[in-house]
This record gives sequence, C-alpha cells and structure tokens, in this order.
Amino acid sequence: MTIREILKMGDPRLLRMARPVNDFDTDALHLLVHELLKTMHAADGVGLAAPQIGVDLQVVVFGTGAPNPRYPDAPIVPPTVLLNPTVTPIGDEQEEDWEGCLSVPGLRAVVPRYTRIRYTGLDPYGDPINRTASGFHARVVQHEVDHLLGTLYPMRVRDFSRFGFTEALFGADV
Ligand code: NI
Repeated sequence: MTIREILKMGDPRLLRMARPVNDFDTDALHLLVHELLKTMHAADGVGLAAPQIGVDLQVVVFGTGAPNPRYPDAPIVPPTVLLNPTVTPIGDEQEEDWEGCLSVPGLRAVVPRYTRIRYTGLDPYGDPINRTASGFHARVVQHEVDHLLGTLYPMRVRDFSRFGFTEALFGADV
C-alpha cells in the first residue's frame, strides 16, 4: 500500500467521466480504497476521488474523524467510502463558501453548492448508502462527485474576485 501521486489540474485524466464499479469486494478494489484513504490522510484532505490518482473509476473517499488542519473550523463529516454515487439536491437553495482541492494546490475560491442534498451509492461490499446531508458535508460530497464527472471546482466559480492563492487571501498557506 502506497501513497499515490495526486494529479494536478491540467492533467487530462481529471476531465474524464469515470466508469462505474462493477466488481465489489475484490482485492483490487480494497487496495484502491486503502490507497485513496492513505493518500488523502497524508495530504490532510477531507476528500479524494479515484480520478485524482489516475484511476478511472467512480470511487470517492471523504470525511474527517477529527478537526482537519486544512479546514479547522469545519464540522465533522462521517468517514465514508462511496462508489457509483448519485447526488440529488433537496430544494434549490444554494450557499457559497470557500473551497480548495488537492489537485489545485495553493488556491481557494468561493464556490456555490446546494445547501441540502440526498446522496446514494454503494460501499466497497456493494451494500447501499443512502443519506441526506447539508452544509459542509453536502459541499464535500458535491465536490468529490464532481471529480467523477470531470469537473474541478474552478469550473464552478462565478465570482473570480474571490479566487486566489491561500497566502494572499488568508495570510497563511493552509
Ligand atoms: Ni478536489
């Protein structure tokens, strides 16, 4: 099990529509999940999608068991491994908040996201996941699922006056 290189924006592998997982509870799938988790934790991320390590499959991991150094004020998000996800907004309310991405290092932007969502999918054993989420939890899920659609958060930015380098925006490279 190794920490994998995280692809950076500009790499065409980040722009693909990821393929659904068809084979569950396999050694290869469990290894992929372990590598995603290890890579995410090593980078202090709150989420990571398989395309970010060059794997063309609909697999995302996210969650924080404890306050995260990159998002110290963010609420806890349940540690989750999610395959073949769908996201459905609950209502049309959106909210804006700062967002970053391990594939876009050093930058942050204000990104609009749906405030409340339902998300579904499968775990690595093929068992269903069906949850509602709001706020930061909903934001993280929408960000990670976007990776499976070939969408990076800068593509969602509407106000480019609130898009910049973390040390210039906040005075520290967090
Ligand atoms: Ni990201």
